[in-house]
Amino acid sequence: MEPLSAMKTYHWENNTLDIQYENGHGVVEVLTDDIFRIYVGQNGEPTLSVAVEGDKKTPVEAVCEASGDSLVVRTRRYAVSVSGDFRIDILDSKGNRICEDYREERTKREVLSDAHKELLIAEGHAKPEDFDRPEHIFSAKKMDGDEKFYGLGDKTGFLNKRSYEFENWNTDNPKAHTEAFAALYKSIPFLIVLKEKGCYGLFYDNTYRSRLNLGKEREDYFFYAADGGTLNYYFIGGRSMKEVVSNYTYLTGTTPLPQRWVLGYHQSRWGYDSAEVMRTVASKMRELEIPCDCLHFDIDYMEGFRVFTWNEKRYGEKGKLIEELLDDGFRSVCIIDPGVKKDEDYAIYREGVENDYFAKSPDGTIYNNVVWPGVVAFPDFGNPKTRDWWAQNQKFLMNMKVGGVWNDMNEPASFEGELPLDVVFSDEGDKITHEKMHNRYGHLMSKATYEGIKAQTGRRPFVITRACYAGTQKYSTVWTGDNQSLWAHLQMAIPQLCNLGISGIGIAGTDVGGFGADTTPELMARWVQVGAVSPFFRNHCSNGCIHQEPWEFPEEIQNIYRKFTNLRYELLPYFYDCMKECEETGIPMMRPLVLEYEHDAECFNCNDEFMVGDRMLVAPVVTQGSTKRVVYLPEGTWYGFEDEDQKRYDGGQYYLVDAPLDTCPIFVKEGTILPTYAPMQYIGETCPDKLILRVYPGEGSYIHYQDNGLDFDYRNGAYNRYRFTKAADGTVSTELLHEGFPQYGEIEVK
Ligand code: GLC
Repeated sequence: MEPLSAMKTYHWENNTLDIQYENGHGVVEVLTDDIFRIYVGQNGEPTLSVAVEGDKKTPVEAVCEASGDSLVVRTRRYAVSVSGDFRIDILDSKGNRICEDYREERTKREVLSDAHKELLIAEGHAKPEDFDRPEHIFSAKKMDGDEKFYGLGDKTGFLNKRSYEFENWNTDNPKAHTEAFAALYKSIPFLIVLKEKGCYGLFYDNTYRSRLNLGKEREDYFFYAADGGTLNYYFIGGRSMKEVVSNYTYLTGTTPLPQRWVLGYHQSRWGYDSAEVMRTVASKMRELEIPCDCLHFDIDYMEGFRVFTWNEKRYGEKGKLIEELLDDGFRSVCIIDPGVKKDEDYAIYREGVENDYFAKSPDGTIYNNVVWPGVVAFPDFGNPKTRDWWAQNQKFLMNMKVGGVWNDMNEPASFEGELPLDVVFSDEGDKITHEKMHNRYGHLMSKATYEGIKAQTGRRPFVITRACYAGTQKYSTVWTGDNQSLWAHLQMAIPQLCNLGISGIGIAGTDVGGFGADTTPELMARWVQVGAVSPFFRNHCSNGCIHQEPWEFPEEIQNIYRKFTNLRYELLPYFYDCMKECEETGIPMMRPLVLEYEHDAECFNCNDEFMVGDRMLVAPVVTQGSTKRVVYLPEGTWYGFEDEDQKRYDGGQYYLVDAPLDTCPIFVKEGTILPTYAPMQYIGETCPDKLILRVYPGEGSYIHYQDNGLDFDYRNGAYNRYRFTKAADGTVSTELLHEGFPQYGEIEVK
């Protein structure tokens, strides 16, 4: 990408500044008072976004004026100053230069000789593509020195991404994920920058392989580089980090309210390979009285891993088992991979061939690679007709009353090397190659799945995906893929889920207990404590690893398992309220402390505590052998969630607290009112008739939301909204702010 040089003319119309240069044009478009889209049209224009749907432009008052050598676009909140060579500086309303293009000469890191590169490749420390990465697109921003970086989706490592480089290229790497991994399954090129002067977000909307180097190359700039596409990004302002997250989800969409049971407990394992095993798992959950709402069917339920088939030999008559489980209060989720087995006798494959639904090699033949079923073809989800077909195919599962669909291997993963970059897909009516399709593949598959389920059931679709792009939250929940039963992965779960949350993904979870490797009783107990208060709570594990269902552990661990799963169900109405907030504002249920306390330096790098909503702080034990831990409580007054004697903790300091194996330190803010349910074995379709308010010392109020937990009737007013207020004398009053659904029979204060 060559710099734009010699401004020729400019044009300001419809809140859009379009500057013509000798070698292209640069555009600054005002979407809201806080959001600006900036792009460079040089070798083509940015194409239709898959992340941003619909027109996000609002009629705000903006002006454009010349100031010295620059043009300045102003809204009530920001001024975007564009200098002669299309360098951009953004100033807040106080005149602080909050985000500035870097203008100095870039100093690259050490450049290796070919001989050294070869040696590194020979011993397996590097791959040829690790060197001299193409930088078709490049944009660097100046660093003031105190920047913290958050967001970026599922990237490994710690909460604050400063001094690391990450790559956006959806990657299924079965090795143990560590902070040395540049990429994982998801690509969300959204970054939140927090510094003394304020905070802002940058969303680079381009699905080609890209990198974000966050002060790793040099401390005085961070940069974005991409292998292709155009420089096309959004500056996303806000008066707080929360506003930045809300603005980002205004742009890319929020996570819709899930069915209530989705927030229950899910049991899974790759290897539940018959109806009998599924029945045993179900009955053991009930026998042990560990609440559970959902069982997951991994790839074995299909016939030879052919998607949209059912193996009757092992799982009995189609639909029967699913109905049986439903009768016992268990939903079923079935896995669906994108690879369609190449088999002329298989209807789905034939339909795909006949209707031209599969991705092609450049020579026009169907492209094949190998996944679970053997040789497969890959649906071209960029083609709207393919998506419709895929959506229709959900009928196969929905007719059986399957409760949700788990989309896996959709990076897309393939066993015989990655799909070549020149494989041909569609971008709606146009043709594109895998280079541009790769990072959007999982997103488009999830979208097709969501739309199919919605059309066929009228219910809020439950989709889980492994790969995604920015904006996938509109269609799917996610899990963090193949983690392992390692303490390091339990530790990483917290920053990973928190960063996913502030990257728009409101419902995310890890495989509780760890997918690969063998868990230990202690690790399991500690992981359940985190899982029980994270948005998606599923125990899942790989074939070949030791079993990690609750009954596989000694009684002490089973009791801990039960205690925390019960806690999950007790807190369901609180979590559901958080989900409603997330749908309305984009603020996730599970959030890093820094999102609530962005001026508190102790929260900037807090990797082992998190907030659930804005009034509950969880400080789990995530190190082997520990029975005490240090907890930081931010400003305000806090109470131990489980404390009988309601001990008071003054915030703004560290405490050493006891945390034996059956204890997860949880604190709530003064004045908290928590809506809870009485114990249950599953939530199913009912909204319990009784709500129990757990109240803590101090005055406070709380807004609670209630609906049928199933479909979209709430969008037509079928819900209740209550305000509970606790006065200084301890009395709690209830106001009904909106009535549209049968009210609770009883509201008890505890
Ligand atoms: C992938 C998934 C994992 C699943 C397995 C078999 O590894 O990430 O969750 O169990 O495939 O389908």
